[in-house]
Amino acid sequence: MIYLDYQATTPLAPEAFEAMVPLLRDHYGNPHSTHRAGRQAAAQVELARDRILSAMALPEGRLIFTSGATEALNIAITGFARNAPADRRRIVTLATEHAAVRDTVLALEADGYEPVLLPVQRDGLVDLDIARAAINPETALVIAMLVNNEIGVIQPVDALCDLAHAAGAVFLCDAVQGFGRVPLPENADAIAISAHKVHGPKGVGALWLRDGLTLPPLIHGGGQEGGLRSGTLSPALCAGFGVAADLMRQNREADVAHVEKLWKAALDLFHGWTINGSTDNRYHGNLNIRRDGIDGARLLSDCRNIAFSLGSACASGSGRPSHVLHGLGLSDKEARGSVRIGFGRYTSAAELEDAARAITQAAAHQTTVAQGAHGS
Ligand SMILES: Cc1ncc(COP(=O)(O)O)c(C=O)c1O
Repeated sequence: MIYLDYQATTPLAPEAFEAMVPLLRDHYGNPHSTHRAGRQAAAQVELARDRILSAMALPEGRLIFTSGATEALNIAITGFARNAPADRRRIVTLATEHAAVRDTVLALEADGYEPVLLPVQRDGLVDLDIARAAINPETALVIAMLVNNEIGVIQPVDALCDLAHAAGAVFLCDAVQGFGRVPLPENADAIAISAHKVHGPKGVGALWLRDGLTLPPLIHGGGQEGGLRSGTLSPALCAGFGVAADLMRQNREADVAHVEKLWKAALDLFHGWTINGSTDNRYHGNLNIRRDGIDGARLLSDCRNIAFSLGSACASGSGRPSHVLHGLGLSDKEARGSVRIGFGRYTSAAELEDAARAITQAAAHQTTVAQGAHGS
């Protein structure tokens, strides 16, 4: 199988795996216990926290481990909303956000908050004039993703953060796809990240919170993570995340150079396909493309030895065309004719070539059959 679905998840780095094994097998102490076994496990958790914080390279802030970015985003969105004074009920985000943001924001409507989903332009980027008009003194919170998980476009998060602060609101960034690849917004108040998108294990993520900010907990219990996120941490998952984050920092230039090489090759290999979303403001490990007369879902089943997708992994099973592609103004037909190809550190040029050959041949076959059916 050729794996080309790096936005859904990334292969676990062997170094991250190695770091996890002794914590699963030998050093199984509860990191919240006070005996030596517990303290040893806790030291590994703290080492991981430090590694992730240095990979984030942000001003003073703290890192709270969670089960993933979905939980981190839920904690931050509901927490900031609850913290806001009664005259700030507006929550502004983009129409093309991940469901972990969009659905959490929409759910708050039932509690009297006013969700505002900003449209994006044809290139997938938010129009800052529209954002400026929407972010007003009634706004509690602005949320935007750094790199879009479906189309890879890089949103102007620094500008959105400035607009939020000018209106007296806080700014939360969903940096799941951008962490380790694209600089993080330095002035953000909170940032959500996830281990499995950076060659770490699934089931662990984190919320970075600017110093001085507090949030009410969403999960109550033993008071771990400074009382913000109760529950016993998994030292193995934290350690795997820490090593993976460290590797993102150390390998950054090599990863970028490798992805650029693959991107250039992919542009040639998929010549004649249309790229969805901006090509200038984009993370180049994501190629979301479409072609007339193609059924993306059929293409996936025709190329069973290649792991690629229609869009977000969570939406792929739903059969509904992507809300992100609709957000760009694509028709149902265009959205259904689109596929997402994601590559990165462990993708070889030969794999990309083989996959592109199989995909373009299957696509050509689809169009020939369709033309034949029209002709007869
Ligand atoms: C942009 C974005 N935000 C949030 C998430 C949710 O992350 P997790 O799988 O860690 O809950 C994802 C994962 O698909 C994502 O791509």
